[in-house]
Amino acid sequence: MQTKLIDMTETINEEDIKTVVQLLRRGELVAFPTETVYGLGADATNETAVNHIFKAKGRPSDNPLIVHVATKEQLLTLTEDVPDYVEKLIDAFSPGPITYVLKSAGHVANVVTAGLSTVGIRIPDHRVALAIISACKKPIAAPSANRSGKPSPTKAAHVVEDLYGKIACIVDGGGTDIGIESTVVDCTRNIPLILRPGAITAKQIANIVGACHTYEKKEPTEQPKSPGLKYVHYAPEVPLMLVKKEQIHKLVYKYKREKKRIALLYETDKFKDIAVEKTMFLGRDEATMAQHLYEILRSLKKDVVDIIVCELPSFSLDSALIDRLKRAATEVIM
Ligand code: TXA
Ligand code: MG
Repeated sequence: MQTKLIDMTETINEEDIKTVVQLLRRGELVAFPTETVYGLGADATNETAVNHIFKAKGRPSDNPLIVHVATKEQLLTLTEDVPDYVEKLIDAFSPGPITYVLKSAGHVANVVTAGLSTVGIRIPDHRVALAIISACKKPIAAPSANRSGKPSPTKAAHVVEDLYGKIACIVDGGGTDIGIESTVVDCTRNIPLILRPGAITAKQIANIVGACHTYEKKEPTEQPKSPGLKYVHYAPEVPLMLVKKEQIHKLVYKYKREKKRIALLYETDKFKDIAVEKTMFLGRDEATMAQHLYEILRSLKKDVVDIIVCELPSFSLDSALIDRLKRAATEVIM
């Protein structure tokens, strides 16, 4: 398939939006930027189109997709039995990096929700995404626009790497601001429950509605609440060891003795001079680390390095960034 590349990094031109809308309305797949990561969009009411998403990504079909809308009104028409606190959350955080899991009113194709009675919906805070969704006048199902298992794309070039030739169109809107996926919060209960941490934190949600819980898997055999949580995620091409600062030297020397080519991702300045194949700075704070993490992971190819040693950053262990690092890691060494 010929993949059309459309540049909206500087300006959004009406003709281009028309082209994208025509493709989506015809049931084609279009990758577009959001404030978190790039999404792979299809008309959420078109079952065949949504099936193509699973195929292009190589994604298991029991993993539901997030539906993207442009307004609160559109969000509410797709849902039922919405608890009162949800409108408060929407007013506080949307458009923004938060997905609400709510009872579905049944207006999206069954494959979108993987047969669940709930649907995950969000209003992305990105001028390109909003322009496309409003012009299309349809809810747009869009998972992250990567091949299943790979880190989510934060630049159009990452989407090209994974999906060129497999989808109708890729819209370039430049690098994404946040860099990791939205907070997914189950709003079907009295107290909201975070299923996937993201830029909007439990504390911010609790500040608006009084309380917020975070889902933690208790037993290894327990079925995760959010189907997506059971799959391998964000995996770089080579094993990643997530390592406490105190253990870095020891581990690096062990791998050196084994003649491994090492990429060292560090937060603490003193590690930058260790002689290894590659050293990369994670970033000066959590937001910058999140913005660049997936690009760093994508850049470490197996023909250049054999192993990644990543310093465990020093901030709170329940942060969204640490969550993604843990999921990318083969092993966590504390
Ligand atoms: O920031 C984001 O959320 C990006 C951009 C493109 O919007 N999208 C994204 O989609 O990360 P995806 O499909 O890669 O991740 C969706 C997550 C999965 O973990 C899935 O299991 C969960 O949301 N999810 C979706 N619908 C759900 C539902 N009804 N109940 C529970 N979890 C749901
Ligand atoms: Mg994803």
